[in-house]
Order: sequence, then structure tokens, then C-alpha cells
Amino acid sequence: MKNFCLALAAVLALACSTKKEPMALGPYSEQYRPQIHFSPAKNWTNDPNGLVYHEGEYHLFFQYNPFGDTWGHMSWGHAVSKDLIHWEELPVAIQEYPDATTGDSTMIFSGTVVIDKNNSAGFGANALVALYTSHVHQNNRARVQHQSIAYSTDKGRTWTRYSKNPVLDIQRKDFRDPKVFWYEPGQKWVMVLVVPDLYKVQLYSSVNLKEWTLMSEFGNAGDRRRIWECPDLYQLPVENQQGKTKWVLSLSGSHPSGDDFVGMQYFTGDFDGHRFTTPDSAARYMDFGKDYYAGIVFNHLDKKIMFGWVNNWTYGNQIPTSPWRGAFSLPRELSLKEDAGSFELVQRPIDLATIRDDTRIDFKNVNGPVELRVDLNAANSGIKLVSASGDEVTIGVDTARRLLIDRTKAGRVDFQKQFASIETSKPLAQLPAHLHIFIDHSIIEVFANDGEVAMCEQFFFRSTQFAIKPFGKAELKIGWRLKSIWR
Ligand code: FRU
Repeated sequence: MKNFCLALAAVLALACSTKKEPMALGPYSEQYRPQIHFSPAKNWTNDPNGLVYHEGEYHLFFQYNPFGDTWGHMSWGHAVSKDLIHWEELPVAIQEYPDATTGDSTMIFSGTVVIDKNNSAGFGANALVALYTSHVHQNNRARVQHQSIAYSTDKGRTWTRYSKNPVLDIQRKDFRDPKVFWYEPGQKWVMVLVVPDLYKVQLYSSVNLKEWTLMSEFGNAGDRRRIWECPDLYQLPVENQQGKTKWVLSLSGSHPSGDDFVGMQYFTGDFDGHRFTTPDSAARYMDFGKDYYAGIVFNHLDKKIMFGWVNNWTYGNQIPTSPWRGAFSLPRELSLKEDAGSFELVQRPIDLATIRDDTRIDFKNVNGPVELRVDLNAANSGIKLVSASGDEVTIGVDTARRLLIDRTKAGRVDFQKQFASIETSKPLAQLPAHLHIFIDHSIIEVFANDGEVAMCEQFFFRSTQFAIKPFGKAELKIGWRLKSIWR
């Protein structure tokens, strides 16, 4: 009965999807509500989907459960922004739908949005075309995953599913997460997606977004301790080398600390329009915190800007936030640095100067989001965030020159037995380490040495106020209070 009602609600929502009013939004002032990171007003979210820039608007679609605050009924939520900082949540864009004849239901899993400037698909010039994984299930038992299309001709406000879906089907239960981009030199669309359990990325091409031809596969590389998900392929500038670029294939899978958690890895190499090749198939990780997953970059934007999902499948459904669960990272601009012939990813948050508040920070009594610049002049140095309730988070560098975040004493840690943890990164190239730190109500993001290492972590203090206390050879250089993006 419950399923029938949910299915009926889904049908009604879909039928009404042409007349959409902005949703009444919550006050965004709940305990733990991120103030400088986007999160939906209510309910569950996971991966960012369909990131695209179009006519002055950034679109963030996201895996979303319209009916609850844990994973289920996956649909695409939607938010738009003019500056990548302030967001307006819009009604659900594409919703799970039932098939009355088979009893199946199709969830809208992760995918991509492109702008079809030349009307290659026939939905109209400049139509937004979403390519997503149609996850067919019966009472949550997966039957098949294939790739489908929906399109919008009103700037993403309303969506129509293509009548001849699916557009790519290899009859597998696990086959998902298409990312599509326009490949200018070949005048064609390129799709990357994964066969998760075979640790394989497949590359397809198309001229009309509807018929896809397999070009090549990439696998047998990197970390294969956990299934592969959410791949992306993009070209990045190499810093300090005028005009030089390299291709990056990034994907989600195991965490650097092992397969108890999920994380992201990347490969650098070349893409000739058909095949991605790398001279170095070793695993390199994007973020060493526990809460950065499923990141993809924006389409139709010159800069390569990535959002990750701030959570981890290991405890994601249990984090103590309400009435929402899940948030997105700060937008990170990506580039590469060459180091002795190998290429390392550089990640920098976009500039948040427009939301800096000029009033001085009282480091003994912080209450709200802050941005800090901290220099660590020796190993075993850092800062501690100490709350009025005695909860603590340590951010610093250990004796092996690794960036670390320790949240073992961070208040509410016992909602899941693996949440309390100490994360460490690969060793930093050098000391002193310059840390660029963002502390939001329940999210910390740290960028060391101008983007060499990134770490994103959630924490849940029992009280909101805390002091920032340097230790070892740490210098608190600058601190800004940041204004809430919701007010
Ligand atoms: C990654 C993922 C994707 C899938 C989506 C379902 O977090 O498992 O592979 O499309 O989430 O919500």
C-alpha cells in the first residue's frame, strides 16, 4: 500500500511538473545546517548531478529523495545560482516513476546535463539535455540499469522524458553514471560511464545524444578495492606552462585509508577523441578527508569547477542532521602541476570574498562560518577547535608532514561506530605548510599549500560556539567571518 501511494504521488508530481511554484524553504538555521555550503531544505541528497552553466546560471542537480531523509526514491533535485555561492532550490526536476504494467519503478540515478546548441538531438536549439542512469527496480530489487534522456527547453525548470528511452542498454544490473561533454576537435558528444563491479570506465561517442557507439575502455588501474562510480573526463591547464594541458579521468571508489569508506581517485594522461591513456596507472586520491565523494565538473564552463558530495556511504544515512541529510562541498577550481614528469591535481576553493564579514573574529568565541589562513612552521603543529561543551577537532600536520584532521573527540561521534576517526593525507611536499581552512557549522574543508592537498570532513559538536587554539609552531595569520549564504 505504501509503495502504491508513493508511486501515485510520483505520478501526480510528474503530471504537475509543468506548473511549478518555488518551494517554501526552511529557515536554514537548524543546528548543523551548513551556512556556506549548499544543502537541500529537507530530505536526503547524495551525488551532484548535471552540473552545467547556461545563460548566466549555474545549475546544480542532485540525487534526491523527495519522500524522506534517507536514501530512496532517487530523483533529481535542482538548485540554481548566479555566483556559485548563493543558491535557490527549485522543485524536483526529474522524478522516479512507476510502470503500471510491469510493476517496475525507475529511479533517476546520477548523470549529466549538456546544452545542445546545434539541436543535434532534435529537442530544440539550446535545449538542456539530461543523460541519466535509469535504474529499474521492483520493490527496491534492482533489475537493470541503462542510460536515458530527458530534456528541458525552459532553462531547466521543467523536464520531459524522451519517449524512446533508454538510449544505451547493455543489459546489466550495474552500468551507470554517464558524464557527457562536447568534444570540439571531433565534433561529437563523448560519454564516460562505469561498469562498477568490473572496475571499468567505458567511453562512447554520439552525434545526436541518442545513438551511442562504444569507442574504448579504461581499467586495470588504480584502486580497485571498492566498485567504481561517477567518472568524469576533462582537460586541465598545467600551471606555469603557457598553453599546456593534460586530460584527467577522475572517479569515485575506495578511500585512501581502505575499503571501509568511499573516496575519489584520478588519473592524468591523454585523450585522443577515442581513448584515454595514462603512463602511470597508480592510484592518486582527490581528497584525504572522509567526506568528499561523487565529484564531477561543470559542463559548458571554461574553468573546471567541481562539487563533491560531503558525506560517506559508510555512515551517510545516520548523520545527526534534520530535516535534511547531505550537502555539497565548496566549488573547487581544478588545475595540474607538473612535478618531475608527473602531474598532480591542484584544488582551490573559489574566492569567497563577497561573503566575508569585516568585523573582527574573536578566536576565543567563534559562532558561525569562518575562513582562516594558518601557517604551520614545524611538524606537530596546528589548531584545535574547542567547543563550550568540551568537544574538540584538531587540524594540523603530524610528524610525517601529513595534513591531519582528528574528529575522534568531536562531540556526537557515536551514531555510527566508524565515524570517529583521524584522517591523514599523503606527505606534504614541504614545511612550512600554509593552510586555507573553512569551518562551517558541520563541515571543515582544508586546502594545504595552495591546493596541493585537500581534506573535507563533517563534525557535529554538541554546542555551536567554539574557540580556535593554535598549538606547536602554528601562526593564525588571517581570519574572516563569513556571512550565511541563506540570509
Ligand atoms: C554514487 C551512486 C551512483 C548512483 C547514485 C544512486 O554515490 O551510488 O553510482 O548513480 O549514487 O543514488
